[in-house]
Amino acid sequence: MNEQTPDQKIVVVTGASSGIGRGTAIEIAARGMGVVVTYNARPEGAERTVEEVRGNGGTAVALPLDLSRSGSFPDFTKALSGVLRSEWGADRIHALVNNAGFGGGMSFEEMTEDAFDAYYRVLLRGPYFLTQALLPLITDGGAIVNTSSSSVRAGDTEPGYSGYAAMKGGLAVATRFLAKELSGRSIRVNSVSPGPTRTRLGDNAFERFPEVIDGLAAKTAFGRIGEPADIGKVIAFLVSDDSAWITGEDILATGGYGL
Ligand SMILES: NC(=O)c1ccc[n+]([C@@H]2O[C@H](COP(=O)([O-])OP(=O)(O)OC[C@H]3O[C@@H](n4cnc5c(N)ncnc54)[C@H](OP(=O)(O)O)[C@@H]3O)[C@@H](O)[C@H]2O)c1
Repeated sequence: MNEQTPDQKIVVVTGASSGIGRGTAIEIAARGMGVVVTYNARPEGAERTVEEVRGNGGTAVALPLDLSRSGSFPDFTKALSGVLRSEWGADRIHALVNNAGFGGGMSFEEMTEDAFDAYYRVLLRGPYFLTQALLPLITDGGAIVNTSSSSVRAGDTEPGYSGYAAMKGGLAVATRFLAKELSGRSIRVNSVSPGPTRTRLGDNAFERFPEVIDGLAAKTAFGRIGEPADIGKVIAFLVSDDSAWITGEDILATGGYGL
């Protein structure tokens, strides 16, 4: 059992077996909160995240979760309740970070209904109904943060992202409506829209095609692409009480991409 403090806050971060989710879990844990990190295909990635958090003196547990299978959410909720009790002696979470996702371009002319549905299930339907499933576990005064994408904004409209960005846009819009509906419980709901960030997104595209990085970096104000910690710090802020007066917002975190 992890060490427990009476006012320990615990945050669920989906898709934390790599990239932005791992960076977010590390930043949140560094602020004294416990983290439940989820993984889909790569348990070893989640284990590494847990080890990094614990190595820094934090508390973390990993659970499997496939966002495309909303029928599994009741079982995930039960498993979450179990680890909250066994690891922290807790029965509530402070926040949910809906971060998990997958990417990769597909031109409009090549798009298939199956590919479109896959984007929909993981990037929009999944986080929407996971939030509904976990809502009873989120404390009043808690927070929800959704990872959207800079591709929902003008200035980052690259060919091949109509399906992906449509779902991310839907998530940002749902964020605003949930902020209104959940305000009665003082639960804040915001989204973060990262620009190009060095992760495993797109089947590890940045490692397979490193030649694209310079072009993307040149479009930012600071001449580099984002790192997971750049985004993790923004999400950690939105989870923390330092952002208590922010709700219903979509925060661009791009290093000035396309300015
Ligand atoms: N990197 C960027 O440039 C960028 C820009 C804008 C927005 N984003 C968004 O940032 C979020 C995090 O992505 P990332 O860039 O950090 O990529 P990443 O390194 O590939 O991480 C994606 C995470 O999502 C999980 N995941 C994938 N499919 C899943 C599913 N069906 N069910 C549950 N979990 C699933 C992965 O788990 P496993 O590896 O265990 O399968 C992994 O933990 C995504 O929502 C992405 O769309 C990224």
